[in-house]
Amino acid sequence: MDRIQEKLAAFGERKRQVVDPGLYFYLRTVDQLDGAHVWTGGKRMLMLASYSYLGLIGHPKINAAARQALEKYGTGTHGVRILAGTLPVHVELEEEIARFKGTEAAIAYASGYGTNLSTISTLLGRNDIVICDKINHASIVDGCLLSGAKLLRFQHNDMNSLREQLEKVKDEDGGKLVVVDAVFSMDGDVTPLPEVVDLCREYNTWLMVDEAHSLGVLGKTGHGIEEHFGLHDAIPVNMGTLSKTIPAVGGYIAGSRELIDFLKHNARAFVFSAALPPPAAAAARAAFQVIEEEPWRVGKVQENARLFKEGLESLGFSTFNSQTPVVPILIGDEDTTLRVTRFCQDQGLFVLPVLSPAVPPLTARLRTTVTSLHSSKDIAFALDVLSRAKKIFNL
Ligand SMILES: Cc1ncc(COP(=O)(O)O)c(C=O)c1O
Repeated sequence: MDRIQEKLAAFGERKRQVVDPGLYFYLRTVDQLDGAHVWTGGKRMLMLASYSYLGLIGHPKINAAARQALEKYGTGTHGVRILAGTLPVHVELEEEIARFKGTEAAIAYASGYGTNLSTISTLLGRNDIVICDKINHASIVDGCLLSGAKLLRFQHNDMNSLREQLEKVKDEDGGKLVVVDAVFSMDGDVTPLPEVVDLCREYNTWLMVDEAHSLGVLGKTGHGIEEHFGLHDAIPVNMGTLSKTIPAVGGYIAGSRELIDFLKHNARAFVFSAALPPPAAAAARAAFQVIEEEPWRVGKVQENARLFKEGLESLGFSTFNSQTPVVPILIGDEDTTLRVTRFCQDQGLFVLPVLSPAVPPLTARLRTTVTSLHSSKDIAFALDVLSRAKKIFNL
């Protein structure tokens, strides 16, 4: 067996070990939406694993925008944006993002992952330095590695540790960029943005923030992490996805006209990859408008996050330092995490396990999320199932 065959065989064996006892939960189809519930495997379950924080999938205005774009432009484009692929819907989407984020301009890519990968590796090269929070998303890490820049990491949300790293490189030449998630996708906590911004200013360093899980979620009106902390113009490279609160696909960078123009002519995921399909671009644009037109959704998801976390904590669960609708429930070992997932799903609660290497060993967890579609009755039901799981599995 060569190395590749060995890798495939080892994976196949590991997968069999969980499939056989009914503990494999990935790649399952979610067949139908039904408010806060979904149908999967012939069963109706309360959805507690969705990234659609404001419940916008299937929203009539967003669906209508997608349909209209489909009728007008069809399903595809004439290639990459920089050549024949740009349609009016792309320009309108970018204007909408810039307006929503309060920046001069924006660029929309066809993937959130590609946005991080390409933006970081376009801004930085071999002689530059990038400083990351230790638990930044994989797409950020991959962008840093691809750039060839010197990669330094600071302890999660620890500003002394960030200062130490900045101090280490303060006399070095080259571009310097600090990158953080606004909301950490596995822990649900928030980066201390005011301190990060102050440090970046003190050390004359660029800052990039990934708002994948804060867009529509943080801030009184869901405009994101700057609104949450009462800051403006604090983030020169403001990244977000169009695949979570925004029910489409893709990613964006919002920033100065100079930055966006540079990325539009140099970022390889933009220059060498096809444009967003018109229905997705139109849907994304409409979704930004819906966030502002239906502010109750933002209030409701924030209220649900608080209710659910408080409920879990009163049951004695550890939810790390979650302050958002991403609420991890620490279980610890992987086998128990898989068994608890089985129990919850059998009881009608759609939760999913997150294991190493996505999270550090021995911190396997249920990574639950609440949305604006959950009622207080739904939250109570979820807490009831989890409290029974706690007793049965001695958590
Ligand atoms: C923090 C973060 N950044 C970027 C991405 C990538 O976005 P997308 O799934 O839209 O490609 C994700 C996806 O889960 C994410 O959680």
